[in-house]
Amino acid sequence: MFAVHFSFHYMAFSTNILNWYHQHKRDLPWRNTRDPYLIWLSEIILQQTRVDQGLPYYLKFSEQYPNVVALAKASEEKVMRLWQGLGYYSRARNLHAAAKDVVARFGGKFPSSYEEIRSLKGIGEYTAAAISSFAFDQPYPVVDGNVFRLLSRYYGISDPIDKPKTKKIFTELAGDLMKGFPPHDFNQAIMEFGARQCKPASPDCSNCPLNLSCHAYKLNLVSTLPVKENKTKVRDRFFHYLIIESKNSFYIRKRNEKDIWQGLHDFPLIEAKKKITPASFIKSKELGAYSKEITFTTISEPYEHLLSHQKIHARFYHFSEKDLADKKLLHPLIKVNLKTITKYALPKLVERYLD
Ligand code: ADE
Repeated sequence: MFAVHFSFHYMAFSTNILNWYHQHKRDLPWRNTRDPYLIWLSEIILQQTRVDQGLPYYLKFSEQYPNVVALAKASEEKVMRLWQGLGYYSRARNLHAAAKDVVARFGGKFPSSYEEIRSLKGIGEYTAAAISSFAFDQPYPVVDGNVFRLLSRYYGISDPIDKPKTKKIFTELAGDLMKGFPPHDFNQAIMEFGARQCKPASPDCSNCPLNLSCHAYKLNLVSTLPVKENKTKVRDRFFHYLIIESKNSFYIRKRNEKDIWQGLHDFPLIEAKKKITPASFIKSKELGAYSKEITFTTISEPYEHLLSHQKIHARFYHFSEKDLADKKLLHPLIKVNLKTITKYALPKLVERYLD
């Protein structure tokens, strides 16, 4: 009796969101293809990124690299440069590495089994489910932030969504809701409904086709669900960039270390552990390694740049190459000017400064 009651309830939910989807869905290029490569590309671009921000990148990438072999053959520099401005650069590095892996392990043909898809770099449970269902109609439910929010509100589930245990609850629930519906449409519908109707802030509940049976709506809990336990902590970092000038040129370096912006280029950098004034930076031991008596031609205003878990406080210090204590310091650097620097992928903060 209980099971029958629930499956009926599930069917009403799924029928409703699918009807809503067919009326309201946006016409997006990755929804008009079954090509697993293009779907993968779109899903990586759309991680932590809004559709309107990601769409131009999807169009650029799918044009320059229309298939996985083309992407595998591209240089890292070109891939990173094309990704510039989108943030979370490990996505681009992993995308490129996974493309090479598809060529090496699968002869350039994108794999079709969930396990093989999941084994590629940068593909987690969510992305593997998205590709398996969108390209191959396999019944793996997608559970992203939009789905968490929708299910948590509709079913009144208050378990904290940033706990792995909770993810299991939602994945099982979404899997049950999907039964009897085409996985491709169901997954697009549940995500689109979460993104556009069951929005994080001030959703239009009075015009929602699910409102009469929505737990959060009935009990006035829309603004309290979903529950998140741990607020993201943001770490402050203090960057002192050295702009070593030589006529119209200056120097950049590739960020190879395992840190933010790996694979991108910025300037020689001295990081301080805490906030310090330009006056005390100028007297610092770290700067002394470059030269005891640097005369700065310009010291910039402070710049702030917010990342998901870090706040970067930066200043840019200009001085002449002639004041450098040791020419060896230039050895790992790349000499560029405002024109040639456009070949390199740069963090937004650096772009902002150059502008
Ligand atoms: N966000 C993540 N995947 C998406 C998709 N396939 N369509 C729209 N937004 C998305």
